[in-house]
Amino acid sequence: MENFSLRAFFLVFTLFLCPQLLRSHGFISRQPPRPVIFTQHNGSDSDPQQVHISLVGKDHMRVSWVTEAKQTKSIVEYGKESRRYNAVATGEHTSYKYFFYSSGEIHHVKIGPLQPSTTYFYRCGGSGPEFSFRTPPSGFPIEFVVVGDLGQTEWTASTLAHVASMDYDVFLLPGDLSYADTQQPLWDTFGRLVEPYATTRPWMVTEGNHEIEIIPIIHSGGFTSYNARWPMAYEESGSTSNLYYSFDVAGTHIIMLGSYAEFSKSSAQYKWLEADLAKVDRTKTPWIFVLLHAPWYNTNTAHKGEGESMRKAMEKLLFRARVDVVFAGHVHAYERFTRVYNNAENQCGPVYVTIGDGGNREGLALKFKNPPSPLSLFREASFGHGRLRVLNETHANWSWHRNNDSNSVVADQVWLESLSTSEACWDEGLLSLLKDEL
Ligand SMILES: *[C@@H]1O[C@H](CO)[C@@H](O)[C@H](O)[C@H]1NC(C)=O
Ligand SMILES: *[C@@H]1O[C@H](CO)[C@@H](O)[C@H](O)[C@H]1NC(C)=O
Ligand SMILES: *[C@@H]1O[C@H](CO)[C@@H](O)[C@H](O)[C@H]1NC(C)=O
Ligand SMILES: *[C@@H]1O[C@H](CO)[C@@H](O)[C@H](O)[C@H]1NC(C)=O
Ligand SMILES: [Fe+2]
Repeated sequence: MENFSLRAFFLVFTLFLCPQLLRSHGFISRQPPRPVIFTQHNGSDSDPQQVHISLVGKDHMRVSWVTEAKQTKSIVEYGKESRRYNAVATGEHTSYKYFFYSSGEIHHVKIGPLQPSTTYFYRCGGSGPEFSFRTPPSGFPIEFVVVGDLGQTEWTASTLAHVASMDYDVFLLPGDLSYADTQQPLWDTFGRLVEPYATTRPWMVTEGNHEIEIIPIIHSGGFTSYNARWPMAYEESGSTSNLYYSFDVAGTHIIMLGSYAEFSKSSAQYKWLEADLAKVDRTKTPWIFVLLHAPWYNTNTAHKGEGESMRKAMEKLLFRARVDVVFAGHVHAYERFTRVYNNAENQCGPVYVTIGDGGNREGLALKFKNPPSPLSLFREASFGHGRLRVLNETHANWSWHRNNDSNSVVADQVWLESLSTSEACWDEGLLSLLKDEL
């Protein structure tokens, strides 16, 4: 029944609100879009569903879940042995309304302190199934999975299966999660689809355009569902918004920027970013990675120039801080650039990577601009995911894993060296020149 009404909803949406989805591309793609999966909840109304975890500070984890029934307990029992919970934490719950939709009870409980590289077993709300996760290590090596524009199609399922087939520590998502696009039940089906993955490793996300969900007059506040369901630990980094924040994990400083929050020089986000970068100690966190949604560098014809005003506002801050890599989504393809600053190759600038190819229902961005830019070293419109294995303070292995139907193939791989130890890039004269310009 639920399944049927969701499909009906989806069809109506596709036909009337999103005509561009029906547009024919006029040529054959290697990986055509695949259907949406509507993941059902088979438990009772009071059973936890859509369970996922995220990092909070250096040694805590937030556990989030939804119950259809109201007045269920916001507690998490946990411990290092299965079914033997020696700790319990209490949190809070919230809910929201969106047009005719009322969400279930959305629970958030912070647990810890937790030890690094340790498996914990946990149960939500005092009943229901047991889950387990492994905390990230306290030092190198650490492995991140990076994948944007995930959605909830059969390609999404295939990408997630490939992600889970090899070990990793933290999942990073540079925006566009459910593609609910105002149809709130699709946030629930998304939460259920990703639960087997997002319960075992922390998922750290930032917002994309599909999280905005403003309908003029009817629903004017943005990010209602995203903020209620996917709160990140932004206060810990001094941010006042769930739309941008940062965190440290195992020798890396990770900055999640908000492409859909104000970013001009007078904005709160700009001031927060400037202060956040000033606090980074490269002896403690030799690596700085930035994630945001709309790419600053992009040679695909899709979303051309959309990240340009943010680039103009903030690129210098990242360059001066010697950020190592900037990951973006939005464009449904994979692209890797050389080290860039201000549209030119620069050995002290970040490497730019677009990884918006998680598998959403809109399909791939097939058309790249020609002739290719010399700044762009690898580009391909296929679904897949990325892995960033940071081996030590100086070396990391970045790889892009293309979905080749049921299997996954490494299609691009490169060694990255941290800018923290590049003497030429920390020349005092050079840096003070940049400071004056800011
Ligand atoms: C719920 O039940 C259906 C039908 O038995 C099954 O196909 C599906 O995998 C189940 N979903 C979950 C999340 O267990
Ligand atoms: C870091 O790892 C790289 C690649 O394995 C290796 O060549 C280098 O010697 C390592 N550096 C340190 C400081 O361990
Ligand atoms: C980098 O990682 C990929 C994916 O795990 C692997 O296939 C590749 O061999 C690695 N490269 C090196 C040089 O270790
Ligand atoms: C891709 O998948 C096909 C079909 O499973 C297989 O025949 C082919 O060898 C795979 N290609 C690579 C590069 O793994
Ligand atoms: Fe997007």
